Amino acid sequence: MPTNKSAWTLVVHGGARSIPRQDRARFAAGCAQAAKVGGDILAQGGSAIDAVEAAVRVLEDLPDFNAGTGSVRNAAGNVEMDAAVMDGHTLAIGGVGAIREVRHPVSVARAMLDETPILLVGEGARQFATHIGAEPADAGSIPSPGGCDTVGCIARDQAGHVAAAGSTGGLEGKMVGRVGDTPLPGCGLYADDSAGATALSGEGESIARGMLAAHILFALPGNGALAAAQMAITRLERTGGEAGAIVLDSDGGFGIAHNSAQFSVAVAADWLDAPRAGTHADDLREWYT
Ligand code: GLY
Repeated sequence: MPTNKSAWTLVVHGGARSIPRQDRARFAAGCAQAAKVGGDILAQGGSAIDAVEAAVRVLEDLPDFNAGTGSVRNAAGNVEMDAAVMDGHTLAIGGVGAIREVRHPVSVARAMLDETPILLVGEGARQFATHIGAEPADAGSIPSPGGCDTVGCIARDQAGHVAAAGSTGGLEGKMVGRVGDTPLPGCGLYADDSAGATALSGEGESIARGMLAAHILFALPGNGALAAAQMAITRLERTGGEAGAIVLDSDGGFGIAHNSAQFSVAVAADWLDAPRAGTHADDLREWYT
């Protein structure tokens, strides 16, 4: 556990949901795999933005997780995905909503960082993906077994910059064109070098109505990462539903809170010899700062 500023830290989540006991090791292993890929980038001096995108891409390719390949279907039986990336150094944010037919929505969102609009949805998002040459989805992709989840990642790099990313297939059976909290700044994610970063999972309408990411960022400086995460889950009582939050402070300390039965998570950091992963916040409790 760090005693002062961490050189780099990266936290990944694979969604707030119930995970059958026999599947938990697999979910934890997926998060650990993503944390290793992102952590290796940070260890080599790479940027937080590159690390969060790379970690989320790993989860988008694993069919257990409701993002990318494993995305659930909407009411019409189609996959429509939301994703976002936020840079805590510049406060640039890129998002896509209800995007179809791409393998890595998070990378389309990453490309949006260079554009003036912060969010493109539906056909506009798909056209932008085509314009940048985004990789198409595999036609035989396997939907996730359902439940309410999203994947996300937050990181602090060796230069002290933070970033956040999220990606989701949204809620199973959702209305066509519905966009959840994941690409909405201040709702499903936020990153600001002066305070820290957060990414959330859970019922998007409840998270957005409570502006949970914004409340976490406001709470971080005075309260620390764990208390800020816990305060967001308490605030969720106003709007109901299940959610989980991963939170990083500007020094690289982290905290995790959720009211779902499980929340698959992993952490990689310069002060750990390898990523640590689990399916409940308590599994990583000894590493919180
Ligand atoms: N948190 C994911 C969604 O509600 O779409």
